[in-house]
Amino acid sequence: MSEVSATLVLRRCRLSRPSTAQQEFAQSELVDIAIADRQIIAIAPNLPMAGLTELNVDGRLVSAPFVESHIHLDSALTAGEPRWNESGTLFEGIDIWRDRKASLTVEDVKARAIKALRQQASYGVLFVRSHADVSERSLTALKGLLAVREAVKDWMTLQVVAFPQDGLYGHEKNEALMEESLRLGADAVGGIPHYELTREDGVRSVHKIFELAQKYDRLVDVHCDEIDDPQSRFLEVMAGCCIRSGMSAEVTASHTTAFGSYNDAYALKLMGILRRGKLNFIANPLINITLQGRTDTYPKRRGVTRVKELWHNGLNVSLGHDCIQDPWYSLGTGNLLSVVEMAVHVCQMTGQAEMAACFDMVTMGGARTLNLRDGYGIEVGRPANLVVLEAESRYEAILRRATVRYVISRGRVLVETAPPVTRWVE
Ligand code: FE2
Repeated sequence: MSEVSATLVLRRCRLSRPSTAQQEFAQSELVDIAIADRQIIAIAPNLPMAGLTELNVDGRLVSAPFVESHIHLDSALTAGEPRWNESGTLFEGIDIWRDRKASLTVEDVKARAIKALRQQASYGVLFVRSHADVSERSLTALKGLLAVREAVKDWMTLQVVAFPQDGLYGHEKNEALMEESLRLGADAVGGIPHYELTREDGVRSVHKIFELAQKYDRLVDVHCDEIDDPQSRFLEVMAGCCIRSGMSAEVTASHTTAFGSYNDAYALKLMGILRRGKLNFIANPLINITLQGRTDTYPKRRGVTRVKELWHNGLNVSLGHDCIQDPWYSLGTGNLLSVVEMAVHVCQMTGQAEMAACFDMVTMGGARTLNLRDGYGIEVGRPANLVVLEAESRYEAILRRATVRYVISRGRVLVETAPPVTRWVE
């Protein structure tokens, strides 16, 4: 063995997908990964270099970190405050949140968000996009999450979306609050066109969102058509804005649950427009299956967007958790393998290639949505962020909701988790 030249070397890694560096080797071949100066410096079988720390992962699956592309950290861990959502509907959740946020403080937001992020990191999530409600004059949620973004940057990458929960035009102050949020440093412009007072306001809000994104050079992530109403058709407005503005990779349509209720003739036409628009999609199957279809008797809709069809059409789809114990969803741990498992069921993605695709939707797909580009992926020269799973394949990771044994962030081991042990006693 030669002299020490790496700070950390992972031995005998089974990569979740072939890296560029690995393409010269057999895809199934185990490789070593060497890390120095927070970067991946080499990937190859039997690397002839030593590390200050050596970790033999013994054929376990090694993946780029999980990417949480859609969550609301400002409301996370508030379930039951000031009351539980007994109807389980989106609209009761909005009412409860309106009451809860009256007592919101920056310190309250920071404490809960950091607690949630640490929980997410323990499940191998190292990139998170959170919405921050910017409907209040104080902008408390946004200020809290921007402070958190700074506080966690050494171990977690956080993007913050300025999200006008009550609509961009729901109150005359809201448009100015959005601009103020962007001046304060929000990473993305959010929206909620289907919740605006009128359809016309919804269309106007989408145009305004694109205008602001271009003016401030920010990303776009819109809660779009999160409703069962098949007449809610703001996704086509977003796609039209993408085509006309040239923005695509920077734009995301979240939820789009009404797409699951459109008639097939319109869905076919829309898919053609979406292929031209090339925007990103986020489905949130845990929350969508819970909140949508509430006004149906039977048959009861699943209320999830057309994940399989979007994937088949070559569009980028990622999956988000959306809520962790908040007014809309009293459950949730932050583990994205739970989200994947729900997507596999609800979207009927049960084929082997389909399950692998669902795993990719919370890794590579999420990275595309967050526009991480060269800041993500197990490639030489990229930041040394990766996870080691107690599994040998993406399928097995989903099947067993595998423990994430090691989370490596910025080149160092951030979290280590021992798998549970079951012992027969008779
Ligand atoms: Fe959401």
